[in-house]
Amino acid sequence: MTKDDHLTFRQFMLNEYREHGTPKDLIFLLEDIATACRTISHKIRSGAFAGTLGATEDTNVQGETQKQLDVIANDQFMMHCANCSRVAALVSEELDNVVWLKDKAEAGDYIIYFDPLDGSSNLELNISVGSIFSIVELKEPLAELTDEAVLIPGSEQICAGYSLYGPSTSLVITTGHGVNGFTHLNGSGEFLLTFPNMTVPAETNEYAINASRQKYWEPAIARYIDECLAGVDGPRERKFNMRWVASMVAEVHRILTRGGVFLYPRDAENAAMGGRLRLLYEASPMAFIIEQAGGKASTGEVQIMDLMPTDLHQRCGVILGSSEEVDRIDAYHRD
Ligand code: AHG
Ligand code: MN
Ligand code: MN
Repeated sequence: MTKDDHLTFRQFMLNEYREHGTPKDLIFLLEDIATACRTISHKIRSGAFAGTLGATEDTNVQGETQKQLDVIANDQFMMHCANCSRVAALVSEELDNVVWLKDKAEAGDYIIYFDPLDGSSNLELNISVGSIFSIVELKEPLAELTDEAVLIPGSEQICAGYSLYGPSTSLVITTGHGVNGFTHLNGSGEFLLTFPNMTVPAETNEYAINASRQKYWEPAIARYIDECLAGVDGPRERKFNMRWVASMVAEVHRILTRGGVFLYPRDAENAAMGGRLRLLYEASPMAFIIEQAGGKASTGEVQIMDLMPTDLHQRCGVILGSSEEVDRIDAYHRD
């Protein structure tokens, strides 16, 4: 790959501006987020030398031990997102409350929700991790700057994206006009368009679930997985393959590349919390990306983007990917 063969992230975004009127402020903000992701990628790659792969002594608001790189990645997001004067507030997995960057939140201001480092249990293992973000534009000024004021459903997102820190560093975004994937060209400081118009095929033979939770599954999930496992002799009359990276970003990237369905459903053990994955900065942005690529995203009962959040760190069941499989799992829930 040479630089000349591919649009740079800026060239691509300027085309989006000409074709769709994407606001320049959003373009600058996304360039800052891209810088944060490039820096995080570098910090992860040098983590073994810097001694930063392990845990801190702190826990976050969800009661999870914070890794040093969770905190480092959070700092990068906070610093780079604050460059944009339209950003009114930041919501992070690693912070208890909303961080307000302005005294007043006007119509047109942005709220950014992010999981600075997703899959951080994989850090010491040199297995892919990622960052996830979601951007909402306020339609009206906010009367009060409270945590409740930013409980906005995913259907209001104007942009979502993730960066995958794998063998290469990817940046995948949607601004509501399809999904496009960029790769960081090492040494150039630039993300180049390498995967234009990413789509999720409707059909698939691959699913991803943490099967160690089988005894907690609800009947609809147990039935779906049983039928996949039964292979050619079962009701599906075909073989299924399974993957589980334990990094949602890596699972979503696989699904955008070759299809599949990802399940982290609500189950008997996590039901009291609403599920495992967080709505505002994990489920919603991934749902927006997957739907923009032609896939579907549901909790089993409702579309993820239609869920009305009631808490900043709210959790929900997540079933997303190839539309035929998500439709089938939804139907099993209705049964
Ligand atoms: P985080 O590292 O931000 O807490 O999120 C990890 C998430 C997600 O990436 C992954 O799909 C899931 O947790 C893994 O869960 P298990 O440990 O149950 O496999
Ligand atoms: Mn996460
Ligand atoms: Mn995280």
